[in-house]
Amino acid sequence: MSHKKIRNGIIDTCLEMNRSGLNQGTSGNVSHRVDGGMLITPTSLPYDKMKPADIVEMNFDGTFSGRHRPSSEWRFHRDILKNRKDVNIVLHTHSVYTTTLAVHERGIPSFHYMVAVAGGFDIRCSPYACFGTQELSDYALKALEGRTACILGHHGLIVLANTFEKALWLATEVETLAKMYVHALAIGEPPRLSDKEMTQVQEQIKRMSYGQAPDLDTVKDSPKVKGAVVAVAKKAAPAKAAAVTVAVKGAAPKAAAKTAATATGAKRPGRPAKAAKAPVMTATALEKPARVAKTQSKASAGNAPVAKAASAKTAKPATAKTTAAKAAKSAAAAASKAASKAASKAVFGMKRGAGVRSKAGK
Ligand code: 13P
Repeated sequence: MSHKKIRNGIIDTCLEMNRSGLNQGTSGNVSHRVDGGMLITPTSLPYDKMKPADIVEMNFDGTFSGRHRPSSEWRFHRDILKNRKDVNIVLHTHSVYTTTLAVHERGIPSFHYMVAVAGGFDIRCSPYACFGTQELSDYALKALEGRTACILGHHGLIVLANTFEKALWLATEVETLAKMYVHALAIGEPPRLSDKEMTQVQEQIKRMSYGQAPDLDTVKDSPKVKGAVVAVAKKAAPAKAAAVTVAVKGAAPKAAAKTAATATGAKRPGRPAKAAKAPVMTATALEKPARVAKTQSKASAGNAPVAKAASAKTAKPATAKTTAAKAAKSAAAAASKAASKAASKAVFGMKRGAGVRSKAGK
């Protein structure tokens, strides 16, 4: 895709994020992979005022060009695109229900089968770290292992995709799951689907995405295209769908190879002038993006990104049966909480908060 198309795609995605209620104000940010780096939303600029030229071009070494500073979250956008060669787009929002879970440091467990659309048996919540920091980026990368979505503790949501449409779709799905989970929690911690059930869901998703009708139940009664609709149906036939997938996948390693070369300090073919003059930056917590040589004179200190800144009295006497049932239920809930906590500790070594956290799934 041309840079022009990507710039327009980023703006359209931001506008849609706010229009649909997935985001509000100038919260959130979006990036798209380009050769050796990314195009990313500028920091703090209202989306309805954003023009294609406002989108910032940033190299993976932290240098950038453009008339604005990059999003304060450039570190996690950069680190995700550098490390996750399977995706081209990073979208971040402060969507309300996902953030409701985030402030409780809770992930989304396998309470609903659609959780699998983010790649695992759960959607993890990372521990809290201040926005714009390397620490936050490190947590995000970890929470995204094997996933295309994660919740940032006390912050918001990140989703990964290969097209703008898919990014918006996934963010909407995760936000909807979060909404369902928050509502479900009102009547208690919902039971979870087992790993076996979630594995079956994953298999089903895989099959469906290749355009095949599901027959995991072995009934073998897949729908078949008939008569006049054949011409239309052929367009979406599995063979073509597979070809598209291959084409998209085939494009990624090329970019990945260049990305890897850049990360190791090798010259990027085709754009040596800018990159060669740019200072070599390392991903430390103190790292600041620097304008590339062309606009370096403008990169004064002031131009550098600034951290932007049931009452016992009224309770009815319980029967032996309900007491036993309640005891069993709370024992099960306690066991489930303990398992979740232990699993999150294994992923993040988390100590803060008392909330249930998502277990580290597959
Ligand atoms: P930016 O405007 O810098 O992208 O920040 C918005 C945000 O959501 C920070 O997490």
